[in-house]
Amino acid sequence: MTITEVRNDELSTEDLWAARLVKARDRDDTGRRLLASSAKMSYDPMVEVDWEAPVPTDKYGMTPEWSSLYGTPLWDTMTEEQKITLTKHEAASIAGTGLWFEMILMQMLLRDVYDQDPSSPHVQFALAEIADECRHSTMFARSAERFGIPSYRPKWWVHQAARVFKTVASGSLAYGGTLFAEEVLDMMQRDFMRDDRVQPITRTVSKIHVLEEARHIRFAREETVRRLEESNPIGRAGVQLVLGVTAYFILTSLVHDDVYKAAGLDVKEAKKAARENEHYHRKLREGCSKTVEFLDAVGLIGGPAKFLLRRAHAL
Ligand SMILES: [Fe+2]
Ligand SMILES: [Fe+2]
Repeated sequence: MTITEVRNDELSTEDLWAARLVKARDRDDTGRRLLASSAKMSYDPMVEVDWEAPVPTDKYGMTPEWSSLYGTPLWDTMTEEQKITLTKHEAASIAGTGLWFEMILMQMLLRDVYDQDPSSPHVQFALAEIADECRHSTMFARSAERFGIPSYRPKWWVHQAARVFKTVASGSLAYGGTLFAEEVLDMMQRDFMRDDRVQPITRTVSKIHVLEEARHIRFAREETVRRLEESNPIGRAGVQLVLGVTAYFILTSLVHDDVYKAAGLDVKEAKKAARENEHYHRKLREGCSKTVEFLDAVGLIGGPAKFLLRRAHAL
């Protein structure tokens, strides 16, 4: 099976997210359509990715324009080899953050449908999504392993703090938080998969992820809106706040400090350059733009969380 084209029709936004339109759409109707999409377009990365192919030495780990150092004076002083190493480690770090949030998401989804009727298309799609995420996490882990790169994970205390989130987050908070992780990765990977300067493994992994995430994003958006209807203004303010915190930790965990050390850079100097890198901040805002636009339209961007979203360059 070859992957030739990415269908983006599931993400068309023409007024889609006006609450009344989503309300009119039956939950099980969405479940049925997404299940049909899974049946037609699901990939087994263990088979689809040529894991044994030699890893070229002259290809970037990801589109260099997404590097946290791209466009800085420090980037200009780096050798081509250092840029290749850095982008390989950054790609692995981003995938590691994706894997971390996928594990959180799988648990939230399972908790969410625990009490619901398994014969409904909605629950069946949720189970299909867990299966997708399970394959994605294995795929991300395997690709870091193939590049001989450690499994990057968020900082220890972020990892621990997320235990609370993954245990209690539900409804529009769980689905809204998911959107932040899924859409920023989606925006990057759309560039990676089309970029012939990038490692073939990263390109195939990105294609598979983009194709399968389209339905997850649809599911999360609709569910965010439905669950909001059940909440009161105080609950909504709480969701706004925790959503800001969640997005902050997802975005600030994308690039692990050790990626700079791996590229032979001074970690302190590199972190400072990344912190001041306007180009990178613009890319992050671009990556979050669809999520921010959607969450803002449904009233979930606001209050003190805006401060955190600005600090994380989501706004
Ligand atoms: Fe995924
Ligand atoms: Fe997903």
